[in-house]
Amino acid sequence: MKIAVLKEQAAGETRVAATPETVKKFIGLGNEVAIESGAGLHASITDEAFADAGASVGKAAATVKDADIVLGIQAPDAKALKGAKSGAWVAALFDPFSDTARVEAYAAAGLEALAMEFMPRITRAQSMDVLSSQSNLSGYKAVLAAADTYGRAFPMMMTAAGTVQAAKAFVMGVGVAGLQAIATARRLGAQVSATDVRSATKEQIESLGAKAIFVEDVAGIEGEGSGGYATEMSDEYKAAQAKLVSEHIAKQDIVITTALIPGRAAPVLITDAQIATMKPGSVIFDLAVAQGGNVQGSKPDETVEKHGVKIIGYANTPAQLPADASALFARNHFNFLSAFWDKEAGKPELDEEIGDAIRLTQGGKVVNERLLG
Ligand code: NAI
Repeated sequence: MKIAVLKEQAAGETRVAATPETVKKFIGLGNEVAIESGAGLHASITDEAFADAGASVGKAAATVKDADIVLGIQAPDAKALKGAKSGAWVAALFDPFSDTARVEAYAAAGLEALAMEFMPRITRAQSMDVLSSQSNLSGYKAVLAAADTYGRAFPMMMTAAGTVQAAKAFVMGVGVAGLQAIATARRLGAQVSATDVRSATKEQIESLGAKAIFVEDVAGIEGEGSGGYATEMSDEYKAAQAKLVSEHIAKQDIVITTALIPGRAAPVLITDAQIATMKPGSVIFDLAVAQGGNVQGSKPDETVEKHGVKIIGYANTPAQLPADASALFARNHFNFLSAFWDKEAGKPELDEEIGDAIRLTQGGKVVNERLLG
């Protein structure tokens, strides 16, 4: 099989879908690997490093020519894949609910699109889960960016000139990114609290040494849908949450929001009126800013100042840590394909559970239930 990796084309994308480590591993499975020249440069991987690992490094057209599998971070344009084998697999992020034109172009081109963000949240797929691996880094980076923007220190410091108070940090949404944000803010010395709609996260927050801030005694507070994802909450719950959050964020210095609901715009967790209650100099990092934002008025890659509060957030947070984000994403790709490798056939065969979940197009058609339903 020929596995191809192109240079990412999306603006601001610094990651690459393979590393010398995964190139060697794919070759070890009996494959040939082709990498577009310059694909790894932002992630500090030179063409020589890829070539030393055994990849052929060249122009885009030569890289794609006769490819059986193309690996990407963000799915390339279908046009860029002309020359790949008919029915070639393309495993990458597709943003399938928003970017329907891309999905249709893949179907029309006879390519098999495999959306890595649709990987089911099941134990055996954990090592293949790109949302998880990238969110972990995002949670870390969000806290560092907030600390950098904050005009004060995080830890309490007792100095001869007097005491510096510890920063109070509040994490909203305690999935993979939120847990890492709590751990990072704690390591920096902040006093940390956190909230989520899934009551199962309460214990996780406390086990990291943070305070859990939860809506109690409201109908339907479980908040957990299928596969560990949050569900849309009732109006009664939303009102109770808004009141609780308003009281709490007025006392915070740093707020990190991470709440996402798959296939929908991110829920607004902090309104302009709530921002107005915060202390001047406070910082909010909106990790959901690229999905519509958890914070009213937040803008990707901009510092928005409202009522003396700075609101920040990156359009692409994992791209701020290109080397580690690429290494983890590339391993997710390898773990995925190698788990399904049929040694005799010399190619991967997906099983039904994972294949049906992530396959968007096949045989010239859109086939994924979540897109058809
Ligand atoms: P996510 O990125 O979908 O959402 C982030 C967090 O925001 C979630 O904890 C969610 O409950 C929360 N949230 C949503 N709406 C909210 C609201 N209105 N107010 C406050 N919080 C809100 O979540 P992520 O990070 O992908 O993880 C969710 C769960 O799935 C975790 O328990 C994680 O461990 C699990 N998971 C399991 C995997 C596996 O087994 N393969 C892989 C990835 C995650």
